[in-house]
Amino acid sequence: MDKAFDRLLVRGGNTLRGVVRMEGAKNAALPVLAACLLADGESRILGVPELDDVGTMCSVLRRLGGAVSRTAADEVVVRFDGIRTSEAPQDLVRKMRASVLVMGPLLARTGLARACLPGGCAIGARPIDLHLKGFALMGAAVTCDRGFVEVSAPRLKGTRIYLDYPSVGATENLMMAASLAEGFTCIDNAAEEPEVVDLANFLCCMGARVTGAGTKMIRIEGCDSLRPTTYSIIPDRIEAGTFMTAAAIAGGDVLVQNVVVEHVKPIIAKLLDAGCEVSEDPEGSIRVVGPDRPRATDVRTLPYPGFPTDMQPQMMALLSVAGGVSMVTETVFENRFMHVDEFKRMGANIHVDGRTAVVRGVDHLTGAVVRATDLRAGAALLIAGLRSHGTTEILGVQHLDRGYSDFAGKMRSIGAEVVRAREAATEAFLESAATRRLDL
Ligand code: UD1
Repeated sequence: MDKAFDRLLVRGGNTLRGVVRMEGAKNAALPVLAACLLADGESRILGVPELDDVGTMCSVLRRLGGAVSRTAADEVVVRFDGIRTSEAPQDLVRKMRASVLVMGPLLARTGLARACLPGGCAIGARPIDLHLKGFALMGAAVTCDRGFVEVSAPRLKGTRIYLDYPSVGATENLMMAASLAEGFTCIDNAAEEPEVVDLANFLCCMGARVTGAGTKMIRIEGCDSLRPTTYSIIPDRIEAGTFMTAAAIAGGDVLVQNVVVEHVKPIIAKLLDAGCEVSEDPEGSIRVVGPDRPRATDVRTLPYPGFPTDMQPQMMALLSVAGGVSMVTETVFENRFMHVDEFKRMGANIHVDGRTAVVRGVDHLTGAVVRATDLRAGAALLIAGLRSHGTTEILGVQHLDRGYSDFAGKMRSIGAEVVRAREAATEAFLESAATRRLDL
């Protein structure tokens, strides 16, 4: 059945309590899976979450000639014996922007990579010019024609690449390509995200020589070949941040397990500003106790280690019910405020001026029918619904499946009243609400 008809129903007012465990990071799993193209043989990747985006990347690899199977709940095995084609499948690239991460490995292994210009969440233009500029500096010929881009080079040559912006995807694509290039590559102004470091660690396990990942300068000494390996993906810091923020808005007391505390420091800082109690266990869990009412605080998204853009909508949900006025500034993407209109349907008082949203906290939100415009916006609407009077109905739930595994189930496990439903089930939920005389 088409998931586009699914919806989530959230009844607000419950306090969240309990323990919830995070998955491996989607944004680390995707480049690591793409990097499997760099070597023939079988790689075992552990901690791979069961998400639609991961499924899309697995399909991309299959179309390129890989044998890919999920051998356990969190384990994916990828096997390559040569590469069938250097063309990234158009339908899948349009569906998921991260599919372009196969370009670096394809180019390095086969001397050619071809793809259409990518799709993905509707949060801005998101070009790939920085990826292409880097390939060109490594000696590749780049041609763009009628929505397709082709890069080719018999053998890439190591060089110095300065990224105008520390793009996560460009850093990853270039790091993968440089691993099989001739000589040294230096990526300056590289992205420092933990997912970049995870990919570098994976490449090193494959035999690549990468140093400096996690700093602005990454150095790669190219190798003639790499080998398959077994690797475990880092926990998902954005999933963790989402549950931490849910605990915060719902005045809850939640222990979020399987977190690298260092990776969520910018999120913890904002939750403390908002009046939460946060305690860290270096073993990998974080307890968040939410205040009766959050306090206003300003948020500015930035590349890591700044506050992550992928947490901006969820944080805005929290601030929309805070005491006071908050300024939320989005510097990473130029069009990432589409959730604001949806929050407004729930009674939020938010005014957008360019890249800044002025959020005047209201006493409470009110349940409404809203639409998830992208993955994180969907999570944010659910979080807002936790503190709304009545029921919030979220459409566009298929976006959530791209990046959260069993989101509704995990929320229920800590006390949220959330159901996922198609039309018929929706009516049953509304009826049951009516018999309990709830204000819908
Ligand atoms: C990755 C994450 C995404 C996150 C983003 C920023 C994955 C699969 N996705 O996306 O969840 O929101 O990092 O943390 O890891 N840009 C250019 N030219 C380029 C490349 C990027 O102008 O060639 C711009 C983009 O339009 C955007 C900004 O740079 O405004 C950041 O993009 P980038 O860091 O590349 O994000 P992604 O790798 O696409």
